[in-house]
Amino acid sequence: LLIDGEPRDRVPGRDRGLHYGDGLFETLAVEDGRPCLWGRHMARLAEGCRRLGIPVPDTAGLAAEAEREIGGAARGVLKILVTRGRGGRGYAPPREPRPMRLMELSPGPGHPPSWRTRGVRVRRCGMRLSRNPALAGIKHLNRLEQVLARAEWTDPDIAEGLMLDTGDQVIEGTMTNLFLVDGEGIHTPDLSRCGVAGTMRALVMEAAREQGIPVSERPLCWSELERARGLFLTNAVIGIWPVRELDGRALDPQVVPGPLIDAVRERGFIP
Ligand SMILES: Cc1ncc(COP(=O)(O)O)c(C=O)c1O
Repeated sequence: LLIDGEPRDRVPGRDRGLHYGDGLFETLAVEDGRPCLWGRHMARLAEGCRRLGIPVPDTAGLAAEAEREIGGAARGVLKILVTRGRGGRGYAPPREPRPMRLMELSPGPGHPPSWRTRGVRVRRCGMRLSRNPALAGIKHLNRLEQVLARAEWTDPDIAEGLMLDTGDQVIEGTMTNLFLVDGEGIHTPDLSRCGVAGTMRALVMEAAREQGIPVSERPLCWSELERARGLFLTNAVIGIWPVRELDGRALDPQVVPGPLIDAVRERGFIP
């Protein structure tokens, strides 16, 4: 663990990230000793900082700290966390925040490799995401909805749970973004009211457009999922997981367009 660039394993007790979730984080895959999709993660972090009014950390400084935390490790998962730091009175933020930076390298999550090739089993969660456009898209530290959703199941063979928002729209998985595949192309939920705008989601959409595969970003309801030819999930650590079963209903895991899988691999990401 590196805190503000120093090897330490204790977070200051007055940090606003701890008290209020007043901060942001990024979770990156590390391959061949390098963090993948660095620019995309840094762009989302900077956007989050701007929206919350936290000074944007110097990217070159973060890169140097990331390199130090990765050390000689070839693979793993790097978590970068930035909070508003200490201070202020109650919720009122300090006038001149001094953000705290935390880096942690950990081994990969160890999901079965077959989940990528043969697909995953997925369920519908009861916990809803609340709508708040001011917080939509960014990866802020308030993740209680995901924590409660993930606590809904213990079966290790269920890889992910899908979440709807308080307005009955399907938004994403607890830790992944969702794509629906039909005869027209690929569709992913609109994230203007809630959800995290994933780096892998953006990469997949970009690759699809380059390949001439039609992409739409729009509101999706649960009945469309029930009629879908196929579904797949994305995040920066897993890459792409096809869905082979949704709440007991079998789906075709071979629906992920091949060029998308190739594109994810080609862009320095070897899931
Ligand atoms: C709630 C949520 N949505 C979506 C994602 C996917 O984001 P990314 O592709 O940047 O990993 C994550 C990643 O952890 C997440 O926690």
